[in-house]
Amino acid sequence: MMQQHMLANMRDHLVALDEILGFLAEGNVNAAGKIAESRLGMSSLDLHGASHIAKFMPDAMADAGTEMHRAASRFVITAQDAELAPGKDAQHAVYGALQEVTSACNACHQAYRIR
Ligand code: HEC
Repeated sequence: MMQQHMLANMRDHLVALDEILGFLAEGNVNAAGKIAESRLGMSSLDLHGASHIAKFMPDAMADAGTEMHRAASRFVITAQDAELAPGKDAQHAVYGALQEVTSACNACHQAYRIR
């Protein structure tokens, strides 16, 4: 049951990334940030039942999860800054911050399987 729950979370992570990219493509950085915080960021931990699921993970795996949630929350801050100081540099920072999130996804995927 926990495995099913975790995979459902994972699928929602990908949907959230897709929605974030869609909003960024529209230039709606604010909406992208809202999705990132509520579905991937530190604020999403309760939604995902993270503390409950983390108990079933090796510590390093749980840390990889925390790193992903932190990267998502950092993306939100970078995205909000980009709203205030638009321009090429800000745009590049937004891409960079989003890539830190996908790198964190990959870091865990390359190291862990459910079984
Ligand atoms: C803490 C580790 C961890 C992090 C961080 C993580 N994943 Fe996963 N993810 C997994 C594991 C483990 C599986 C299952 C892989 C397996 O057992 O083959 C998985 C599976 C998936 C799946 C397949 C779901 C299915 O129905 O089979 C998707 C999609 C996915 N992850 C997306 C993401 C995205 C997008 C992110 C980043 C925003 C992310 N994951 C971050 C560990 C993680």
